[in-house]
Formats: sequence, structure tokens, C-alpha cells
Amino acid sequence: HLNIMENSELNNNHINSSFQREKWFGHEFLYEFHGFWFTNTYLETTQKVLENVKPLPKDVILASFPKTGTTWLKALLHSITHRYDTKDENSLTFNHPRELIPSLETYLFVQEIPQNNTKNPKKARILATHIPYQIFGEILNSSECKIVYVTRNPKDTLISLWHFLRKSKNFEQDPWELDAAVDQFCKGIVPFGSYYDHVLAYREESLKRPQNVFFVTYEELKENPKNCVEKMGEVLGCPFEGENREEEIEEIVKICSFERLSNQEVNKSSELPKVFPLPYNSFFRKGQVGDHVNYLEDEMIEKLDNITREKFHGIGFIS
Ligand code: A3P
Repeated sequence: HLNIMENSELNNNHINSSFQREKWFGHEFLYEFHGFWFTNTYLETTQKVLENVKPLPKDVILASFPKTGTTWLKALLHSITHRYDTKDENSLTFNHPRELIPSLETYLFVQEIPQNNTKNPKKARILATHIPYQIFGEILNSSECKIVYVTRNPKDTLISLWHFLRKSKNFEQDPWELDAAVDQFCKGIVPFGSYYDHVLAYREESLKRPQNVFFVTYEELKENPKNCVEKMGEVLGCPFEGENREEEIEEIVKICSFERLSNQEVNKSSELPKVFPLPYNSFFRKGQVGDHVNYLEDEMIEKLDNITREKFHGIGFIS
């Protein structure tokens, strides 16, 4: 098993010396690449993705900033596209959603991305990425592929990220203090950050090309999951039709719910996945909207809200 964090520690000394870097926490540095920040592992794999990946017209790219609901969307997109596949009925019982849909920049590290299933060229291949549109957009636009972008309010995103990293070895040695985390998040110096610029570019693209880019928020999904699932069916070219459509949608919402997924043995496991340094269970924590109030102090909230207003007021997306 490849441990990316260990690998990145080894590499810290000799790699990426031509990139501007900032200390993050623990032994980790973040490197600036086209105005965004990457761990050195992701910097390498992102470059590899840019060199090697050309989406096919039938592909669906699930794009997101980390901790905004990627795992949930993986489960949903897989379930929507495989709903008539009888061989696939139990896939979410036995597989972690992250293994059903490969993330380009983690997966490419260990193996080639899957080729299109030529026996069934109509079936969409779904690939996930955290790479910002500013960096990946030209490649994404060179194909007719569809993009589903999920995002989440910045305060819950930050708190989810902070909890996630608490499970890393680095955190034990040298914790990422919450006030430092708020500060770095506001400055954009977090992996794949700035969060704000990440969201903005995909948002703008979704407004320009609504047929190809579907933009959805974690909060919308929580509030009206059926509506979101129905819309995603349309975007993915497999709309819900016929007299069973209501039941089909309800079933997908149910099997992908936090309650259901977080209780599957495979998702509760503390084992390490092949391509990721944190255990399977680290992708399921609380699954709620607004959990930041339990962690952030008033002045932290004010600081984040000010940046959010400044960055997002022009696109009508503020939370
Ligand atoms: P919390 O840390 O707030 O609980 P990502 O998949 O992008 O890494 O995002 C992880 C966040 O999504 C975590 O948020 C996790 O608990 C939540 N999550 C995972 N599966 C979910 C689901 N099926 N429904 C709702 N939230 C989910």
C-alpha cells in the first residue's frame, strides 16, 4: 500500500524547489501552481493529470473542492447511472463510494485511469477531480463531457477539512490549530485553495454553459435531495421517466443517505484504502449543515463571513 503522506514527506526535500511554498502544518508544505495551492503529492499528480487526461465526450467529471460532499456525490452519480444494472445492485454495500468512482489525481498515482467501456459506449464514465477550473478548464472544454460540481458553505467546508486532517499522522505531531486553519483558509492557502476561487470559476462556467455544467450545493442536496437527483439524471443523459420514477428517485436518495452509507461495514472500516493515507471511515463524520457553530468562535465566523461576502456577492451564492 502506498502511503501518500509518507511519500510526500520523502519528496519534500528535493521536489518542487522551483515553486513558491508556504508552511501548512506538521511537516507539510503547500506549493503554488497557477495561483492555487497543492501538497507536493497533489502537485505532481495534478501535473500528471494535465499531461495525460483528455476526457471523452461521454464522460462525466465530478469536480469539487475537498470536503464539500464529493463522497456523497460519488454514491449518487454511481447509483443514478447504474440503476438498471442488476449486477450492480449491492455495489454500495460492498464498496466505498470512493472506489466506485476514481479521483483522477489520487488514482493516477497508482494506476492508469479506466478506459471507456467500448462494449457499451453509451454508458458514462465518471471521474472525479479537485483540480480548479482555472487549471483544468481548457482540457475539460476540449471535450463535450459533462461536469457536475458540488460545493458547500465555506464554514462547514473548513470545519470538515479540519476534522478530516485531525486523523492524519501529521496532526498528532503538530496540530493544525483552528485559528491558523481559519487564517489559511481565508488566505486561500489550503490544498486546492483558494476555496473561493475554486467555487467561483466552476460557478461562472455553470452559468455560461448550463447544459454541460451542473452546479449543486451540499445544502440544496440536504434540503431537497429528490429534486437534485432528478436534475442529475437529466444532466447525465439518463432521466427518470415512466410510472416508477418517484420510487426510483426515492430509492437512490435512501441508499446514498448519510445514515445508510455511514453504517455500511466498508465505510466504517479503519483500514487504509489503496490510494489514500486516511482510513475509509474518515469520509463519514457528521453529515450535517451548520456544524461549524460548534467549533468556530464569533470572530472567526465574522472573518470568514466578510471574505465570503466580498468574494461571492457578485454570483448570488452566499452562505
Ligand atoms: P462532515 O465532516 O461535515 O461530516 P468529501 O466527501 O468531499 O470529502 O466531504 C466529506 C463530508 O461529506 C463530511 O462532512 C462527510 O460526513 C459528509 N458526507 C459523506 N457522505 C455523506 C452523505 N451520504 N450525505 C451527507 N453528507 C455526507
